[in-house]
Amino acid sequence: MSDFPSNPVPPGCPSANVVQIFDTTLRDGEQAPGFSMNRAEKRRMARQLEALGVDVLEAGFPIASPDDFASVREIASEAETMCVAGLARALEEDIRRAAEALKGAKRPRIHTFLATSDLHLAEKLRMSREDCLSQIRRMVSLARSLAPDVEFSAEDASRTDPDFLCRAVETAIAAGANVVNIPDTVGYTTPEEFFRLLVGLRERVPSLANAVLSVHCHDDLGLAVANSLAGVRAGARQVECTVCGVGERAGNAALEEIVMGLATRRAHYGNLATNIRTPELVKTARLLSDIVGVRISPNKAIVGGNAFAHESGIHQHGVMANALTYEIMAPESVGAQDAALVLGKHSGRHAFATRMAELGFKLSEERLGQLFKSFKALADRKKDIDDRDLVALAANSPAADETDAWVLDRFVVNSGNLMTATACVALKRKGKRVEEVASGSGPVYAAIRAVEKIVRHPFSLEDYQLQAVTEHRDALGEVRVKIADATGLYRGRGVSTDIIEASILACLSGINAMLRSDGQALGRGAAAAAQKSFYDIDLLRGGGAADAAK
Ligand code: KIV
Ligand code: ZN
Repeated sequence: MSDFPSNPVPPGCPSANVVQIFDTTLRDGEQAPGFSMNRAEKRRMARQLEALGVDVLEAGFPIASPDDFASVREIASEAETMCVAGLARALEEDIRRAAEALKGAKRPRIHTFLATSDLHLAEKLRMSREDCLSQIRRMVSLARSLAPDVEFSAEDASRTDPDFLCRAVETAIAAGANVVNIPDTVGYTTPEEFFRLLVGLRERVPSLANAVLSVHCHDDLGLAVANSLAGVRAGARQVECTVCGVGERAGNAALEEIVMGLATRRAHYGNLATNIRTPELVKTARLLSDIVGVRISPNKAIVGGNAFAHESGIHQHGVMANALTYEIMAPESVGAQDAALVLGKHSGRHAFATRMAELGFKLSEERLGQLFKSFKALADRKKDIDDRDLVALAANSPAADETDAWVLDRFVVNSGNLMTATACVALKRKGKRVEEVASGSGPVYAAIRAVEKIVRHPFSLEDYQLQAVTEHRDALGEVRVKIADATGLYRGRGVSTDIIEASILACLSGINAMLRSDGQALGRGAAAAAQKSFYDIDLLRGGGAADAAK
């Protein structure tokens, strides 16, 4: 392999010895099934990504939907220092829409792409190579007339004829692209092959000396991180990646692995740095997991629960003698130090508020009061309370401004192995109390039916997951549900030491989001809507006492 080539200094980057981190969790990551986020969730994630120190945040694909447009616009106007990118196909309407969404950004970037492989040109675009070059020329110049920072991606670059790829890259730079991205769209390449491709490009396209070379690798063969790092060795100074590697199919290159690979093997990668605040890595991964409701695999590199755990006696002995024996990174360097026992039964409101703020929650006095009450109630039922419990508690109880929300008043269930489960549930809304009884094949089913009878809004239960938040018998149970109606798919979450209560709370949070229906539906999945509702037919005929609550 050749020595480490230099590359121009990317915009906003103090030195050519810095690899810029381009995060696409909210665009490529969000395209993965089960990872959709609503606008509020995307904004929350964007704030944390800025705190993490990403250089460029790809906020979305503005032409894709009015919601994507609004989300990019909100994130663009909120970002303080990071560059915000909006994706656009190499089409005039996409590019204008992206420019419009990015108007409020301090540092906007239009990221436009067009496939360059013969396969995509012939089968998908039905376009000749010459048409492709002319489209790149016209669309990159249009983008450049609308934004100071333009990135061009040659989709399926790793399967493109290298001679033609050189022409495409040359054309994009001549038309005004200051960043050129080489994606391994289908996760097909290998580190050696990708390195050669990029070195070849740098040798054969002299104008690349005036642009930033970027890589974007998918993980279909499990090589996304290795290929991205090979790209860095070949001179790439921007890496596109996602938190925990979430993304289409097998996902993208994992941000935390790229960053810690570069930091831990700094000399090997030619003393390159990133602007990432690595102690924020675990927090960022946990926030994503918390938002989308997908657990981080325990053995996930860098951010998994076991990434710094030493189970075997030999390892424990070595680490106690000298951590370097089995640890190549300090847990603190990625923010993985144990969530220590922070609060207990006797902790006061001040200590509670301080810890919640340290965990990243900005709470109004009223909300803090609600949560402190739940914390005290939990402390009576559970001996040890750690950060995971606090984060889970924060998912419960409607915020103070939700005056229209249904809240749980009380419930009783009767269940056993020789009987039909029955549940009696009482809910309150706008000060009125409504009670219903329902039966089902199990206590959770019965309780959800009773809730459904009360709210009289048909929905289907698309997903139900129950997990313990922490270890030990007194752990909180966390229930996450996805429910759907004709307006879309909604997530709900409930936490309690009682799993029936957690189930009811989860359904209520989903139902409340559904009834507000104010852009909080998840972008995708609306099609799954109410067809499959398990709403009782007899309810539709007019049973139930819910009218009282209307
Ligand atoms: O994988 C890919 O090719 C992409 C481009 C839009 C950059 O996501
Ligand atoms: Zn991609």
